Amino acid sequence: MQNAHDIVTEDLNDICQRLSPVLQEMNDSKLLITGGAGFLGYYLVQVVDHWNRQFAGNAKIALTVFDNLIRGLPQWLAEIEARGGVQLVVHDIAKPLPADMADDFTWIIHAATIASPTYYRKHPIETMDANINGLRQLLDYLLDQKQRGMLPGGFLFYSSSEVYGDPEPEAIPTAEDYYGRVSFTGPRACYDESKRYGETLCVNFARVHDLPLKIARPFNNYGPGLKITDRRVLPDFARNVLAGEDIVMLSDGSPTRTFCYVADAVVGYFKVLVKGGKGEAYNIGTETPEISMAELAQRVVSVGKALFDYQGSVQLATSDESAYLVDNPNRRCPRIDKARKELGYDPQIDIDEGLRRSLIWYKDNAEGTEA
Ligand SMILES: NC(=O)c1ccc[n+]([C@@H]2O[C@H](COP(=O)([O-])OP(=O)(O)OC[C@H]3O[C@@H](n4cnc5c(N)ncnc54)[C@H](O)[C@@H]3O)[C@@H](O)[C@H]2O)c1
Repeated sequence: MQNAHDIVTEDLNDICQRLSPVLQEMNDSKLLITGGAGFLGYYLVQVVDHWNRQFAGNAKIALTVFDNLIRGLPQWLAEIEARGGVQLVVHDIAKPLPADMADDFTWIIHAATIASPTYYRKHPIETMDANINGLRQLLDYLLDQKQRGMLPGGFLFYSSSEVYGDPEPEAIPTAEDYYGRVSFTGPRACYDESKRYGETLCVNFARVHDLPLKIARPFNNYGPGLKITDRRVLPDFARNVLAGEDIVMLSDGSPTRTFCYVADAVVGYFKVLVKGGKGEAYNIGTETPEISMAELAQRVVSVGKALFDYQGSVQLATSDESAYLVDNPNRRCPRIDKARKELGYDPQIDIDEGLRRSLIWYKDNAEGTEA
């Protein structure tokens, strides 16, 4: 059977191949990723590292990560740092930018925030600060670059499908021009509203100052890098499978989502960064299949059975956290025509294959601190 290393290597090769023209445009320049120690950082950083080692020759992308390491320093990142593949700066993005920060980043990806609902409900103010104050400081940095005559290549703000809230049935699948149906005071509002305001900041900075600001709205990414203790649904299910326990579903199983394997999504994010329109937002996810949590749990059972002879079944339970399901969207499913047409974004990995790769990765990454 394959192991986690095989899965990640296969994904990195595939991503670099699919992104070759895009990454070539970034050769010989400086890239900053905020929040690069997190789930999406796992592939964003490793793609650049892999590209540099395998394909870039002498025209490497110089990579810097800012992260406050609120959830610890992951071993994979420590290893890349130790061999000089990344400059890691421990920095809280809500605070003023480091005084010695290089003034010539060509590309910036702003992914730093707390992104897991369980944790952002616990730390709502830090969540808003990273998305709003952190973003504002990075935009001022770009403006300063422009005033010094330097033309930035591109800036990617990580928004979220949560900007749409709980769409009316007729707005499913949801396109980028949907206004959203969002609570601005509920337990998820710290996240949803700061992403919405962040987008408003980007759109207006792009218009007023003519800056190349792009926005991605991820729809339920999953796969390698998403810590088993993250409290999002798939790592929770994987934890049950690997412990040989029944899968515990903390809802009645009816809410639906489409799930996008991280390797597909990361191809989309680099395309948005490099090829996206100024001030434009793109849904990044998959359109099909839209499945209920109950169906997702059943698929995880089947994949677990095929891989590890897992014998568990699915149990319903109630979360200890009273706000767990408050304002939880009933359905979430994107239209991705805009990214397909403008960026050539085309997700390839179907849900069962994505679950297979994920469970193999979790088998070798079954330990994680609770944070
Ligand atoms: N993964 C998804 O499916 C998904 C969906 C929608 C939106 N997003 C967005 O994508 C981005 C990345 O998400 P992720 O899933 O990798 O999240 P994650 O929680 O796994 O990683 C976020 C990283 O940001 C760091 N961080 C948090 N606050 C910080 C601060 N103030 N200063 C510096 N670093 C800080 C954390 O230490 C962590 O390493 C986030 O902006 C998130 O809102 C992700």
